[in-house]
Amino acid sequence: MTKAVVPVDLFGLPADADAVSAVASEHGLTVIEDACQAFGASYKGRRAGSLGDLAVFSFFPTKNLGGYGDGGLVTGRIPEFVEMARLLRFHGSRDKKDFDYIGYNSRLDELQAAVLRVGLTKIDDWNARRAQVAAWYDACLPADMRRPVVPDGLTHVYHLYVARTARRDDIAAVLKSAGVACAAYYTTPLHLQPALSSLGYRPGDFPATEQAAATNLALPMHPHLTQDQVAEVARALVGARA
Ligand SMILES: Cc1ncc(COP(=O)(O)O)c(C=O)c1O
Repeated sequence: MTKAVVPVDLFGLPADADAVSAVASEHGLTVIEDACQAFGASYKGRRAGSLGDLAVFSFFPTKNLGGYGDGGLVTGRIPEFVEMARLLRFHGSRDKKDFDYIGYNSRLDELQAAVLRVGLTKIDDWNARRAQVAAWYDACLPADMRRPVVPDGLTHVYHLYVARTARRDDIAAVLKSAGVACAAYYTTPLHLQPALSSLGYRPGDFPATEQAAATNLALPMHPHLTQDQVAEVARALVGARA
């Protein structure tokens, strides 16, 4: 029986929280927002991480707010769930003597905490710079490359800038040979992953997902890219299409 749904704020853009909440409340499901890629994003005035019953963030170094190693954060609005997350984080114990649950060691280590405290003072600036880089890409990519679409009322923090193109693999190869880093994400969708083969899904079962997997291409993105560097990527893309 389905107990929870996990909308993902993919690439830094919040998922459609109102639509997910409507389905979840109709069926009595818990919503666990995966905000791992979306620190600082917002949905109709609410921050990513506050859109479900619980939410998770990742501070893996490549994220828009990253530490120097593994780390993460759980937020939530249901006290019992938050308390359970707190317990599981530390071997299921409140006092290091009695263990109410079988938990794990998921403590954020002090070194990561120190790095992240500095990152927290900079993240709004970094996110604004990422949005500027995205606007430069939007303005100069070849016309037939699909840009990320940001619905009204949402802010995207561009953990990644992911365009869509039917000639993805050819274009990626040309970009790489021109020295421009790029990556295709989630090229094997969840329903076709070996680990989930017992569910019996086949190619064609989720056509929109499969099309996104086959056409997405992440272009270089970080807060300190310059407009000239973005223009250089765009020039390489035009060359790739010739
Ligand atoms: C959308 C999403 N969810 C979950 C995770 C897992 O985060 P972590 O590797 O910190 O456990 C990641 C990180 O790659 C992610 O991008």
